Amino acid sequence: MILSLLILPLLAGIAQASPEELEQNLAYRSPYVSHPALGIDTRQVYKRHLEASAEVRSDLKKRQEQTDIPSGEDSEYPQPGYGLGVTDWSNSNYIYAGDLNFTHSVASGDPYDYSVILWTRAYPASTYRVDIPQCEVQRWSLTGADVDWTVKVEATGLSASTLYSYQFENCAKPDNKSPIGKTRTAPGKMATDVPTQRFAIYSCSNYPNGFFSAYSGPVVHEDADYVVHLGDYIYESGTGGAAIGRVPSKGAELASLDDYRRRYDEHRTDVDLLSMHQNIPIIAIWDDHETANNDWKAGSSDSNDSISTGGCAYSNGTVCFSDRAMHAKRAYFEWLPIRQVDLGDQARIWRDFRFGDLLDIYALDTRKYDRDITDLSYNTDYVATLAQDLDSSRSMVGPQQEKWIEDGLKASQDRGTVWKLIWNQVILGSQTPDQATFTINYDAWDGYQGNRQRLLQHIYDQSIDNVAVFTGDTHATWLFENNIQATLQGSDDITTLAASEATTYDHQRGTVVEFGGTAVSSSGWGNSWGSYENSTVAAKRMVENNPTLLYSKGYHRGYMTVSVNYTHLETYWYSYPGNQQARVPNNRTLAMRATMEAGMNHVQRPLMTPTFGAIKPGF
Ligand SMILES: *[C@@H]1O[C@H](CO)[C@@H](O)[C@H](O)[C@H]1NC(C)=O
Ligand SMILES: *[C@@H]1O[C@H](CO)[C@@H](O)[C@H](O)[C@H]1NC(C)=O
Ligand SMILES: *[C@@H]1O[C@H](CO)[C@@H](O)[C@H](O)[C@H]1NC(C)=O
Ligand SMILES: *[C@@H]1O[C@H](CO)[C@@H](O)[C@H](O)[C@H]1NC(C)=O
Ligand SMILES: *[C@@H]1O[C@H](CO)[C@@H](O)[C@H](O)[C@H]1NC(C)=O
Ligand SMILES: *[C@@H]1O[C@H](CO)[C@@H](O)[C@H](O)[C@H]1NC(C)=O
Repeated sequence: MILSLLILPLLAGIAQASPEELEQNLAYRSPYVSHPALGIDTRQVYKRHLEASAEVRSDLKKRQEQTDIPSGEDSEYPQPGYGLGVTDWSNSNYIYAGDLNFTHSVASGDPYDYSVILWTRAYPASTYRVDIPQCEVQRWSLTGADVDWTVKVEATGLSASTLYSYQFENCAKPDNKSPIGKTRTAPGKMATDVPTQRFAIYSCSNYPNGFFSAYSGPVVHEDADYVVHLGDYIYESGTGGAAIGRVPSKGAELASLDDYRRRYDEHRTDVDLLSMHQNIPIIAIWDDHETANNDWKAGSSDSNDSISTGGCAYSNGTVCFSDRAMHAKRAYFEWLPIRQVDLGDQARIWRDFRFGDLLDIYALDTRKYDRDITDLSYNTDYVATLAQDLDSSRSMVGPQQEKWIEDGLKASQDRGTVWKLIWNQVILGSQTPDQATFTINYDAWDGYQGNRQRLLQHIYDQSIDNVAVFTGDTHATWLFENNIQATLQGSDDITTLAASEATTYDHQRGTVVEFGGTAVSSSGWGNSWGSYENSTVAAKRMVENNPTLLYSKGYHRGYMTVSVNYTHLETYWYSYPGNQQARVPNNRTLAMRATMEAGMNHVQRPLMTPTFGAIKPGF
């Protein structure tokens, strides 16, 4: 049911927008007050406009003195800088009356019960590049080259649990409109009769690796209200793609702001991704590849700030990790309809959402916020030693975020909110070493076992029920029942508690069910086995060797959906056979389904016989 259409007119031309007016387009603002370098200096932009204004006035004066007004130019840019001080925007002599090209359609995200973030990109369809004021109902603000022509506004005053349409329009040329987008607000924070909430959950969309057919799922089947992206929305490497005509335009690792912007631009040409954004609001968190492989708070596997060791002499020139990370974050905030969690904090994206008393969402940043050193290939032995020290203060999320998630889960439980959903980047479950199949991934929670123990201990001690974690990163599919006894002894020494639960169906105190999703298109461990049969042999070994792992699947790319009501949480894993080497938007296959019943803290037995992949014997 579409209740109303929000019209967000875009106005073209240069105007003397004050710094405050500029900042109505959130893309200008730094997401963090203490990090001005992540934003655009709007006072400088204002100054530039004042200078332009003076030039235009003198130019106008000259033109008024001419008897022959030059003809044929009005539909384009009659003169640079018109619109200055003009309040009647219909006067096309004073504003840019050319077309705007909505090059990347529209998108929306971070739904609250009263507001949602709306996004578009408005590029002047002319060779003349100016700043483009955008007026939104009573207000307007600019976009321009400073923010890569992105427009990001918060639409507020909305009704809860409501489907909305929205459209941006060129004020100067009202028939020049963006595509119509659809979005939705969250249920009221205090609502007690929340209908079933449905999420489509993605991770790891690598443009040269394959087509993004999986994004078409919720659009074609109309079975998700929100989309979630758990990270690796773009990839920073410059290789591959020749076989399918998706070669990255920059054939090198990304480093500059322009590099990262153009990479979003490129990923966002995929038609299924565009259509998903146009139709469904997203809640996104980043993982490593939005910046660089295996990044942590002070480096990545191929860059750091250490000039003496060559860490800065990275890619093209001498780009240090910190600069690279800042460019990456800036471009992410410009291109994704994510809220700016303005706490004066260091690059914080971890945030929560309340959907009445049905569910709370905790969206983590296990990657860039405050992560201690990770496995960077050249330091694996060192990190392995740190990883298994359960008493260490070593942290995956940093102390501030750790307190937030622990307090948040406890508050959810105390309020009586039924489900606690955690959006998480890297695998929480313990993946038992079996060198032939899978080596320990110290870049996942297995590399931060003390931190993992503190989190699971808290959930156990406080008897927090109905916690479900959704994880990306691995390009493969996993179903874990993580519990303090079986997971937290260090991955070299886990007990077989989970196996003993096979025949019982009791409430499990403190067990956290983890649903790991495969990639949209990235290849990796999952399909490194050469064939579906061989990958399933590996998956079988994994479920047999890992006490807490109930299901594993490797070969196919795809996504998961989760459907949540007051009594059940049901997750579906979908596969797109063919591994995205062609666009196959209608070829979704259900690989597996698993259901949690509220209050039980584990998934229902017996498990379904999967279409693809392997389940633990006896389950
Ligand atoms: C509008 O943008 C699209 C996508 O970038 C491009 O293919 C098209 O040529 C542009 N049209 C105009 C008139 O600039
Ligand atoms: C920085 O990176 C270089 C090469 O990638 C590596 O040899 C060096 O140990 C790193 N420095 C730090 C402090 O991690
Ligand atoms: C390095 O930067 C220069 C100047 O911007 C550019 O021409 C060149 O293609 C870049 N090289 C690589 C490997 O990215
Ligand atoms: C599957 O595994 C077998 C046994 O290891 C191996 O001989 C075969 O080459 C593999 N198949 C593919 C397609 O990689
Ligand atoms: C809740 O979800 C479960 C599993 O999908 C379903 O069987 C049940 O009918 C749903 N309950 C309601 C009230 O819709
Ligand atoms: C579509 O899915 C079917 C069944 O899962 C599979 O056999 C087929 O290869 C897929 N088609 C394409 C074009 O990927």
